[in-house]
Amino acid sequence: MSAKSVIAIAHPNIALIKYWGNLDDEWTIPANGSISMTLGGVFTQVCMTAAENLEHDQLTMDGQVASEAAQTRLRQFMDHVRHLSGKTFFCRVESTSNFPRGSGIASSAAAFAALALAAAKLYDLPTHPIELSRLARLGSGSACRSIYGGFVEWLAGRDHQSSYAIPIASPEHWDLVDCVAVVSTEHKAVSSREGHRLAKTSPLQRCRVQSADQRLEQCRQAILQRDFEQLADVVEWDSNLMHSVMMTSQPPLFYWRGETLVIMEEIRQWRNRGTPVCYTIDAGPNVHILTLSNYAEQVKEKLSQVAGVREVIMAKAGEGAYLLEP
Ligand code: PMV
Repeated sequence: MSAKSVIAIAHPNIALIKYWGNLDDEWTIPANGSISMTLGGVFTQVCMTAAENLEHDQLTMDGQVASEAAQTRLRQFMDHVRHLSGKTFFCRVESTSNFPRGSGIASSAAAFAALALAAAKLYDLPTHPIELSRLARLGSGSACRSIYGGFVEWLAGRDHQSSYAIPIASPEHWDLVDCVAVVSTEHKAVSSREGHRLAKTSPLQRCRVQSADQRLEQCRQAILQRDFEQLADVVEWDSNLMHSVMMTSQPPLFYWRGETLVIMEEIRQWRNRGTPVCYTIDAGPNVHILTLSNYAEQVKEKLSQVAGVREVIMAKAGEGAYLLEP
């Protein structure tokens, strides 16, 4: 076999209703459904090359040989691809991102969405978006949502077949902007993979999961009706619930820092004074602030003045994963 390359690009996403904890860790079947907005402007590109001289998969990230942990994660994903395709060859993967690692924008979602698309092409797997979404989910749960642009829902399902994402609305549907207030760029001490395993040790997880359908419905309706108040209400509630589970897991996970809380409080006050803003926080200390595009510059300006904010990264709703044809 001669070397053959495929290039795929995908965008990260921000969860509006969070995925936290699995029914099945091995197959990444989540405990509850989730909803996200795919982020435009920020992306990860992967170039996947099949070559006959390779004896295992090799990964570089932004030009550097990737860590052992990242190599293992890629190899586990590619083992699924080989199993599903019946093809046994290995590949070289070069991954590059245009946003800083540790900025609070989850790079694994974009990376595994792009990897799923590239691998499907290179290994002749089906390329229907639902198939790609299932495949991406095996690399990183939230990656199954980054296959699509705009507003996306991951249907939790019960097994590999029934767990995948579907689009809710296109990127043009609503001019929401995610302003990411970066307060720390340190690598997180506990990965989300480990966090998902700990979720079930919190007595609050059962309650969060049982009430998720109600929040999913409120979020879906808020998006479809472009109702910012409804969205703000459910997004903050859901983020607080997930962090309550994290903080009450055994051992507990505290991702927030002092600055995180200061920003949360500022956002609540700005909203009370009439600015359409709300916060949501993933597995890290950085805060995603959602607003409408007319207010985005003003929000960025105000955020930049909050003590401890190092940088504000802005992203509108972006498109789904795509191949870069030669
Ligand atoms: O896809 P993972 O394993 O990186 O988990 C993502 C977890 C959160 O970002 C906290 C929530 C989510 O739904 O994206």
